Amino acid sequence: MITLALSKGRIYDETLPLLAAAGIEVLEDPEKSRKLILPTNQPGVRVVLVRATDVPTYVEYGGADLGVTGKDTLIEHGGQGLYQPLDLNIARCRVSVAVRADFDYATAVRQGSRLRVATKYTAIARDFFAGKGVHVDLIKLYGSMELAPLTGLADAIVDLVSTGNTLKANQLVEVERIMDISSRLVVNQAALKLKQRAIQPILDAFTNAVSSPASPS
Ligand code: PRP
Repeated sequence: MITLALSKGRIYDETLPLLAAAGIEVLEDPEKSRKLILPTNQPGVRVVLVRATDVPTYVEYGGADLGVTGKDTLIEHGGQGLYQPLDLNIARCRVSVAVRADFDYATAVRQGSRLRVATKYTAIARDFFAGKGVHVDLIKLYGSMELAPLTGLADAIVDLVSTGNTLKANQLVEVERIMDISSRLVVNQAALKLKQRAIQPILDAFTNAVSSPASPS
């Protein structure tokens, strides 16, 4: 049995066409079911639904053989024990610094003030500000980062930006782009050896689908 870990939402939706290219069809819609293990049309392949931040952990410890996870999540996890064969080029967005429109970020950074930064992405934020020589106090949050500058919890946030609509709706502005993000395929290193015959065709199909994406219909 091959187990693939996915998280609901964009990653799940954008992985389905890649699975289809590998001849795999998920037989239940996670939006209509409370099931966490979804069967596929291939008796030897199943999908497990986990929180996005848990995908690398499931694959690292063998709870899943394969997974699809954002580069952001992978960096925060550390990537240990994971083989990362493929950038799937899906769920694209970026990690950026954002502040209130009336906050003078450039001056704060130039004068070497201590910035209070709220984020879910503490490893990415720590590395980024260390590279700039900016002192930061990091405040770990698990969601709704946009609220932090609005309530005075922090001067800045480090968060994912896709369309920019969430920042705009909360009167925040993007002041620095830290890195581009897309989702990666990750594989358990032991499974890659022990279940190679079942895993390799999936890897090959994903690789082909990524290098020659189907034209939109
Ligand atoms: C992400 C991110 C922003 C939003 C940005 O949240 O944290 O809130 O998307 O997207 P936009 O630029 O298109 O508005 P997500 O919906 O992934 O949920 P999360 O808060 O659990 O991270």
